[in-house]
Amino acid sequence: MEKLVINGPSRLKGEVTISGAKNSAVAILPATLLIDGICTINNVPNIMDVKLSCEILEGLGAKIKWINKNSLEIDTRNITNTIAPIDLTRKFRASYYLIGSILGRKKEIEVGLPGGCNLGARPIDQHIKGFEALGAEVEIVGGNVKASAKKLTGTNIYLDIVSVGATINVMLASVLAEGTTIIDNAAKEPHIVDIANFLNTMGADIRGAGTDMIKINGVKSLKGGQTYSVVPDQIEAGTFMLAAVASRGDIVIKNCIAEHLDCITAKILEIGGNVEVNGDNVRVWCNERPTKAVIKTLPYPGFPTDLQPQMGVVLSLADGTSIINESIWESRFQYTNELNKMGAQITAQGKSAIFEGVETLQGASVYSTDLRAGAALIVAGVAAEGKTEVYNLEHIDRGYENIEEKFRNLGADIQRITE
Ligand code: EPU
Repeated sequence: MEKLVINGPSRLKGEVTISGAKNSAVAILPATLLIDGICTINNVPNIMDVKLSCEILEGLGAKIKWINKNSLEIDTRNITNTIAPIDLTRKFRASYYLIGSILGRKKEIEVGLPGGCNLGARPIDQHIKGFEALGAEVEIVGGNVKASAKKLTGTNIYLDIVSVGATINVMLASVLAEGTTIIDNAAKEPHIVDIANFLNTMGADIRGAGTDMIKINGVKSLKGGQTYSVVPDQIEAGTFMLAAVASRGDIVIKNCIAEHLDCITAKILEIGGNVEVNGDNVRVWCNERPTKAVIKTLPYPGFPTDLQPQMGVVLSLADGTSIINESIWESRFQYTNELNKMGAQITAQGKSAIFEGVETLQGASVYSTDLRAGAALIVAGVAAEGKTEVYNLEHIDRGYENIEEKFRNLGADIQRITE
């Protein structure tokens, strides 16, 4: 078993370069299945979820070559299979994008119901509603999703819930549909724009991504032959911004898009941190103890749920009593039990948690309960006094590239140890 051992506290200082966005990459890879050709994708984060996506694509007939550690050449001319490797698809969430892409290309698909972090109920009813509106029949049989269609025809689809996954999936299914599809009440996250840009680069006709109404004019085929670069990871950048505040450090975060970080910057300024934008670089520093805050997670451009645990670490150490309301996931406060082992004083109930700020955290043995919880525990370990051991690294490795190396380069005393 592997664990991270962190000896704190360290004031993080220096530069960190942000990788390509996980939640973009895990949608762009299935999106390549719509292409009758070859494409190259750069700035791909080298993480477990990407490696798993590659294995699944290969199982469907794609040929994939790693050109270097962050670039892939993908040949999807010969997609032979419409049953995705079921065990692999059950291992992570983004396998649901195979439904939209293979349904779009081959008009039939079977995948295992998606797995991923346990954040409470994670229904896919809005995805299914979209596929059915386009003319597909969808059924769930023996834990698998089966979808098929004689043909897909563009239509107007109103999503009842702002859903990142449903917005992308309906976009994928409608790229090759006949006629025009309009997705209303669409999600607006940076990676939605990224997937639309990727598909348009390959020959699709998608307009309005990044607003709440996306219009997709169906095209006959996507030819590929192009190179695309994945957008920088908003959540990884936010993780390091909050690590700078929690450790009262001074970090320059390189290769990020500052406007994607506005919702985080605003909160950091409110609690007494400093943020300076210089092109693609964002410097964050904090000399004083941060002050309390009230946070509500919301779809983009609101405060992201995927940074809620990392913000929870900052508020554990803030002066005063803070409140976080989690409006997206029903079980995203499991990390608070682990932080309380480190001396935090958090009371979580349902979708709210109260943080009575403490002056310091103390090292302890803690367990990642999901991906972002794991990142938060690393941030806590860096800020805490003494030795922290973080277990269940498989969650963290799914979504962060070289995380301990990046923290070590910023001055953290952190080692990965195999027990
Ligand atoms: N929802 C439904 N029905 C649906 C779809 C969603 O009720 O058909 C609900 C969900 O239960 C949730 C809300 O709508 O309460 C929003 O869910 P959404 O569909 O936006 O989430 P997702 O697509 O499953 C992606 C990210 C998550 C991130 C959320 C919200 C990927 C692979 N996952 O999930 O990322 O938290 O959007 O931004 O893109 C992570 O990276 O750690 C992570 C969990």
